[in-house]
Amino acid sequence: MPFSKTERAFAKLNLTLDVTARRPDGYHDLCMVMQTVELWDTITLRETGNGVMRIHTDVPYLPDDHKNLAAVAAMRYFEAAALPFPGLEIQIQKQIPVCAGMGGGSSDGAAVLRALNAQYGALSLRQLQQVGESIGSDVPYCICGGTVLAEGKGERLRPLPSLPPCFFVICKPKFSISTPTLFSKLRVDKIRCRPDTAGILAALEAGDLEGVARRVYNVFESFLEPKRQEELAHIRAVMIDSGALGVSMSGTGPTMFGLYAARQEAETAFQILKKQYADCFFTRSV
Ligand code: C5P
Repeated sequence: MPFSKTERAFAKLNLTLDVTARRPDGYHDLCMVMQTVELWDTITLRETGNGVMRIHTDVPYLPDDHKNLAAVAAMRYFEAAALPFPGLEIQIQKQIPVCAGMGGGSSDGAAVLRALNAQYGALSLRQLQQVGESIGSDVPYCICGGTVLAEGKGERLRPLPSLPPCFFVICKPKFSISTPTLFSKLRVDKIRCRPDTAGILAALEAGDLEGVARRVYNVFESFLEPKRQEELAHIRAVMIDSGALGVSMSGTGPTMFGLYAARQEAETAFQILKKQYADCFFTRSV
């Protein structure tokens, strides 16, 4: 029986993002506390038996060929598992904003790896993460998700105590950022302020939501152009005014998130921001 499977590809937020060094291979060493949130793309895989890879997405400007990370993930899976490629149709319904710092593409790739391994069972989790690493730096994290400390390029993962229950308002400004471009602008020796990673880890251990929220921080924010920082400052102000315990940018941005203990306060920020921004969400941690 040809298989058909639907999988949720969850978005991530960076509660913290620090860049500690530039590596000889051109990548950077990172130190980030990652958190999965209840916002997802829906990925449906269907085995066709015709040996052809087909990608369908509901976002016209996303690649619908072998360049899509979902297609890359599928091909790498069959290679690593030494299985013949049967032909696949992959349908991607996007909800996670694109080029937003929320790991949407990586999560789609990770969901494909999870779905294929659930079907064929050919790889261990470690092997699946190694395949993920060859696709993108956030893919190993996205395979399992949760509250995690990610280091190295993003592939060294340590599960952390879950974030205490809380609400997130997520808002993508009206511009997009290319990850390689922002990395190329970053100068590690010019980073003046860094996240308190030890402090946020201790707060997570203690189940101290306010302690976590006070320490959300992303070194990339200060490398954005002043005009763009102004837009982020506006979103931050709305979130803080409504009672956010902490606000930061996720990944290489530009999506901003506010973390709230109280549903009503999050709802207030969401109602204001959604009138101004198309990509605005009210959600929770997974
Ligand atoms: O691994 P991924 O394809 O997601 O990375 C996209 C780009 O981000 C890389 O080409 C690189 O420029 C930059 N990057 C980096 N250091 C990392 C992760 C990504 O410099 N740890």
